[in-house]
Amino acid sequence: MKRLLALTAAAFLTLPLTPAAASPSGTPGAPGAGDPYFPGQGNGGYDALHYDLTLDYDPSSGRLSGRAAISARATQALSRFNLDLVDTLSVRSVTVDGRPAAYAQSGSELVVTPSRTLRDRRGFSVVVRYDGSPAHVIDPDGSKDGWIKTEDGVFNANEPQGAMTWYPGNHHMTDKATYRFTVTVPSSSVAVANGDLVRQAAKGGRTTYVWNSREPMASYLATVSIGTFELTDRRIGGYRVTTAVDPQAAGDATGFAERHPPALDYFSRLFGRYPYSSTGGIVDHAPDVGYALETQTRPIYPRVPGESLLAHELAHQWFGNSVTPTLWRDIWLNEGFATYSEWLWADERGTQTVQAAFDEAYARPAEHEFWQTPTADPGGPENLFHAPVYDRGAMTLHVLRTTVGDDTFFAILRAWAGRYRYGNADTAAFIALSERVSGKDLGALFDAWLFKPGKPSL
Ligand code: ARG
Ligand code: ZN
Repeated sequence: MKRLLALTAAAFLTLPLTPAAASPSGTPGAPGAGDPYFPGQGNGGYDALHYDLTLDYDPSSGRLSGRAAISARATQALSRFNLDLVDTLSVRSVTVDGRPAAYAQSGSELVVTPSRTLRDRRGFSVVVRYDGSPAHVIDPDGSKDGWIKTEDGVFNANEPQGAMTWYPGNHHMTDKATYRFTVTVPSSSVAVANGDLVRQAAKGGRTTYVWNSREPMASYLATVSIGTFELTDRRIGGYRVTTAVDPQAAGDATGFAERHPPALDYFSRLFGRYPYSSTGGIVDHAPDVGYALETQTRPIYPRVPGESLLAHELAHQWFGNSVTPTLWRDIWLNEGFATYSEWLWADERGTQTVQAAFDEAYARPAEHEFWQTPTADPGGPENLFHAPVYDRGAMTLHVLRTTVGDDTFFAILRAWAGRYRYGNADTAAFIALSERVSGKDLGALFDAWLFKPGKPSL
């Protein structure tokens, strides 16, 4: 589901547009979505609408066998198209609209050539059967993401590029889709994914879990995490709260499920209705993963989260998951907003005022390298999650708030979450919306806080 795609695929076509390529046989879809940080991520020529993933995993051998049924719509006449999937997994067959299709794997691209040209604007279905031993990838910043194995299963976190390590798809965040996961594991393990648990059935020592994710989701927010979890699925305070907690996880998990509704109620009052049909979290015992991730509906944590981290990942459900950036360089729209939400929640709980949190972040001396990176583009994928994206992003929002006043500021946040709900938007759209809602020219403010290096004066 592509809503606001402002990218040109033309630069990424591998073949020149010769008369032959433009014939009724269609042209190849671009091998990337055109994101400068991850040029091969995503693909052109079609829009993925739904993924039906059937996975079978054995934690002791690390073997995965998968079937991905993808419903899509062509956005050009397509002679062939790509899916993102690492070639450490072996593709066994591909069909398009039920007919066998030719395919080739190279690096993280699976190139599919259907037996007939796919017509522009028509729906089509792709079924990929594959298997192998999935492994994580190392990101440009040195961290891991993807299929991260643990002692008893997998910590599956996919921001920014891990989705290609375990299922084929259109893995740029501008192509959101709905999902259904059918995951079979040995009955000593639990498989937890995004959305609502719809079925759980044991047979012959193996258990199949079916999860339905009915709101659109970007690939980097999908998870299928496996472990010796205690699974709970309850209605609490008007929310369906589904938690999976590894009893070995660090921290005290008492009341973990109950801690979600108060934070969600508070954020709903500020940002608008919670965008998903269920909530909860996955708490794993993954000592060597240094981060949590806002996996849609159900964030994943490497230990029991404290209130700040919980608030951070829950706020991402509005900012990042429902409203998603258009390009990776706009990542402050996720992390700055989630960090500011931590400050709001600490203030609400009486732990620390927002102003004190701002002052602490702002106190970094002007010569500190922190101030050298502007907020709106951290300069490359190696800086995607570095401190300015989080803290300078949050400070930018606070300066906006003090400039336009509380009522207008929260009206801007609600308009942002409402206008771009389930879609994508970039920094320019946020500036335009802020100016429209406030009726103020905010050019100088955003210039100093988002685009210029150096410590802005107050
Ligand atoms: N979005 C996550 C958070 O701030 C961080 C993800 C970090 N990912 C990584 N590969 N280092 O909650
Ligand atoms: Zn975050």
